[in-house]
Amino acid sequence: MPENFFTLGIETSCDDTGVAILKNDREVLCEYLSSQIKDHSRFGGVVPEFAARKHLENLLPLVNAALNEAYIKGRDLNLIAVTRGPGLMGSLIIGVQTALALSQVWNVPLIGVNHLEGHLFAPLVEAEDLEPPFLSLIVSGGHTEIIKVEAFGKYELLGQTRDDAAGEAYDKAARVLGLKYPGGPEIDRLAKLGNSKAFNFPVPLKNSGEIEFSFSGLKTALLGQVKKFQEAGQEIPVEDLCASFEKAVTDSLISKINLAVKLTGIKRVAASGGVSANSALREALSAQKNFKAWLPALKRCTDNAVMIAMAGRNSWTRGNFSGGPVVPDPALHEI
Ligand code: KG4
Ligand code: ZN
Repeated sequence: MPENFFTLGIETSCDDTGVAILKNDREVLCEYLSSQIKDHSRFGGVVPEFAARKHLENLLPLVNAALNEAYIKGRDLNLIAVTRGPGLMGSLIIGVQTALALSQVWNVPLIGVNHLEGHLFAPLVEAEDLEPPFLSLIVSGGHTEIIKVEAFGKYELLGQTRDDAAGEAYDKAARVLGLKYPGGPEIDRLAKLGNSKAFNFPVPLKNSGEIEFSFSGLKTALLGQVKKFQEAGQEIPVEDLCASFEKAVTDSLISKINLAVKLTGIKRVAASGGVSANSALREALSAQKNFKAWLPALKRCTDNAVMIAMAGRNSWTRGNFSGGPVVPDPALHEI
């Protein structure tokens, strides 16, 4: 292993183009993120073909900017780590194909990273004191799950959502309330102005005794409330609805992570994914007495390339490099 090990991370699984360079385990030399949120918000969601085109425009200029900022030549990299799934096929292809071409031209090994393992690593960037075993709560637009991390590379899925992911629930709730996409940050902002006890939304599966989530009923309950106000010709109390909805989602996440702590005896929890940026969830996780929580920096809750570089570098040190082709897989799930 060289004295200094440089990893180029590339993330293009959905609508954010991410590039980062990592020195050794966790020193971030630079990180770039080109968000397409403004481009997609006018459509109310991510348009896959448009996302792929934007990655094509953005990726190579970001790689060049990153190398310049880190004062590194492509040939001096030790590893390229690229997200190979899950995600949108067109978006993944741009990232993987670009990474493959760069790896061949520069003669640098290429490793494919599972996007979910990437999220799992996001809180570790700053958490030098966090070592396995720990529980990982991944709450994003596509996933809501609790994973037991026995060791890096040794993961056990303890439970997940039966239907919508938490981020998806926020995005759908925002649409019901006429808020812009993506809904999570909007609901987070408005909830701070509202009363979380104004509406008593049911906390889904709270007493099921299983580590599992369900958020689709919550959206239906919200829709029911909105309709009541519409039918009565009354103004919709958006802020109170946001606060109450957010409380129900947060209570569900907190109750199931507490159950996982109880069942496994592991009292260390690392949260990640877009919803880990949510203020109420961050506050609740940090206030828990039964376990200690680690959270990613806000900018690394949502998709980014630092987490991909870190997961790729860790996988490399575990000997997971075959030299075989890296194939995009939109449905890749198990980590
Ligand atoms: O991890 P991510 O960037 O993409 C996926 O891999 O899915 O997560 C995006 C999701 C979106 O659904 C977005 O609404 C949600 O994370 N999100 C939030 C917040 N910021 C982003 N949800 C609640 N509160 C937030 N502050
Ligand atoms: Zn993600």
